[in-house]
Amino acid sequence: MQYHLNPLKKVYLELTDSCNLECEICYRHQWVEEPRDMSEALWKDVVAQIREIPSVETIVLGGMGEPLVSPFFHQTIETFKDKQIWVTSNGTMFREKLTAPTVAGINLFIVSIDGMQEQMVKGRGVDFKELMAEIDFLNQLKKENDTPHLDIQFVASRKNIDDIFPLMDVLAEKKIRNLVISHLMPQHLEQADDILYKRYDNQELKQLFHRIRNYSFKRGLRIIFPETELKTERRCAFVNNDATYITSRGEIVPCYRLSHQGSEVVFGRPKVIRQYSFGNLKSKPLQAIWSDPGYVRFRSKIYNNHYPSCPDCDLVEGCSLIHDVDFDCHGEEPNCADCLWARKFVFCN
Ligand SMILES: C[S@@+](CC[C@H](N)C(=O)[O-])C[C@H]1O[C@@H](n2cnc3c(N)ncnc32)[C@H](O)[C@@H]1O
Ligand code: SF4
Ligand code: SF4
Ligand code: SF4
Repeated sequence: MQYHLNPLKKVYLELTDSCNLECEICYRHQWVEEPRDMSEALWKDVVAQIREIPSVETIVLGGMGEPLVSPFFHQTIETFKDKQIWVTSNGTMFREKLTAPTVAGINLFIVSIDGMQEQMVKGRGVDFKELMAEIDFLNQLKKENDTPHLDIQFVASRKNIDDIFPLMDVLAEKKIRNLVISHLMPQHLEQADDILYKRYDNQELKQLFHRIRNYSFKRGLRIIFPETELKTERRCAFVNNDATYITSRGEIVPCYRLSHQGSEVVFGRPKVIRQYSFGNLKSKPLQAIWSDPGYVRFRSKIYNNHYPSCPDCDLVEGCSLIHDVDFDCHGEEPNCADCLWARKFVFCN
């Protein structure tokens, strides 16, 4: 197998893993660790280390938390003026935290909105009208500028998918670049039946997506759709984009899915997720971790698709390796064989 040693281009920077909300679907519910802001000492170290890697083009302020909660939110944008800055946010603190100079330093906002009033209150504890006022405020700060682009991320499930039609009516007036639909990654068995995707033959969802697509044309919105059923092709958006993820404690992990301890349910099968770290910035420089043979070998394996596939494996019902992400049946760790992100069911930016 050939090694894939591309320079590091994209860094997901988790300035904090705490949040001002407690969304029903959120990955954070299954955590055992206390949420934490990145410390000042670590933040300085992270900035210095990213600076030493000129190939880094994009910094995504996101991860598992709300970046606008971080005391270093503004400073980070100021510090990395020469890079592309993307921010994933719940959008509820724009009026409190955003200023025109900060907004001018951001290239892309991805804001999570996945319902109308009733659904947003139930699922996220957010008042829809207030959230729209936050979006209007952002648009005012942008003035006539094209950037930051504004993408909306809609996490689709049986509970909220019907809201997408009235939501498109509202979003059509809000200068949206893309409406990105991602599927729900159930965190526990009670959510398992809320998913819309299937392993095979999902005519129902294909027809629904067709209706959504037609409606979006009328509204002048561009929609990015996830897969409806299992496809042969796999693509890891982290490895293929030469990205890494720095947690608020300085761990270097490959992606969102393996960033924290938690759980997920893959086609009805519960799984324990553990953090998979290739090293901590406090004890080894970022560049050294990125070039470490173990991490390079891992990226090469994922990039070249040399790893097993659980969702369509005949042994999946009896296999003892599907209960966690420790090892796959090739003896490799971590186990990516059951990952629904690489299957284009679950998205991140
Ligand atoms: C973890 S959040 C962090 C950024 C920010 N707090 C927000 O909500 O946009 C990143 C994205 O993951 C989505 N998300 C959270 N839990 C999810 C789940 N169980 N399945 C799929 N997407 C989920 C959120 O809706 C959001 O769009
Ligand atoms: S706003 Fe984002 S990080 Fe916070 S609880 Fe909701 S999905 Fe999770
Ligand atoms: S780990 Fe291997 S044997 Fe087990 S279900 Fe996945 S692909 Fe099949
Ligand atoms: S394949 Fe999935 S689990 Fe593996 S690195 Fe990519 S996103 Fe993470």
